[in-house]
Amino acid sequence: MGTKITWLGHSAFKIETGDHTILIDPFLTGNPLAVTKPEDLNPDFILLSHGHGDHVGDTVAIAKRTGALVVGNFEVAGWIGKQGVQNTSSPNTGGTGKYAFGSVQLTLAFHSSSMPDGSYGGSPNGLFITLNNGLKIYHAGDTALYSDMQLVGAKGIDVAIIPIGDFFTMGPEDSIQAIQWLKPRYVLPCHYNTFPPIAQDAAAWANEVNTRTLSNAIVLDPGGAYQF
Ligand code: NI
Ligand code: MN
Repeated sequence: MGTKITWLGHSAFKIETGDHTILIDPFLTGNPLAVTKPEDLNPDFILLSHGHGDHVGDTVAIAKRTGALVVGNFEVAGWIGKQGVQNTSSPNTGGTGKYAFGSVQLTLAFHSSSMPDGSYGGSPNGLFITLNNGLKIYHAGDTALYSDMQLVGAKGIDVAIIPIGDFFTMGPEDSIQAIQWLKPRYVLPCHYNTFPPIAQDAAAWANEVNTRTLSNAIVLDPGGAYQF
């Protein structure tokens, strides 16, 4: 049973697997790269890496319309609940939640986190997703390079999604070290080209990945998808 991953622009992804549709960090309204409207998405799960507006995005509206379960750390999921979303799940860093599609462990991420209204967002996270079909997907969230990525890599990663934009997160050069430590079969870039400070040449990055690491770079256009 295959799994289809679609890049929605910035850090937003859609994962379709079995009967389930999972959104990660669905920032569409106000995202200049987005080609998908929030009302066209019908997830049953929404996973959030941290509280910043370019990640929480359209979560509240999509969750209220679809009834999707929103998974985020204690503070993020709590804030989403206060906006009137009934269905939330709030693990915390290092912990794993089990869901109908598989499981999600909240990993470390070195960044900051506050909610769109400025309230406390807890610690930022990456998302280590294990699907029922065995596919292991690591979405790094917003993060700097950190050496414990080697421990994440030791879990075995099929698909890594990592920021390459620089300025707010690690940039292309640090991402190469990250990929060498994570050792994913495939790696997709995110968190670039959305805004002027994070403009990057993804084709040049992919060439570096394919030359200097054992991983295969996959560069999608917004709205583009890859079947794993
Ligand atoms: Ni952020
Ligand atoms: Mn961000």
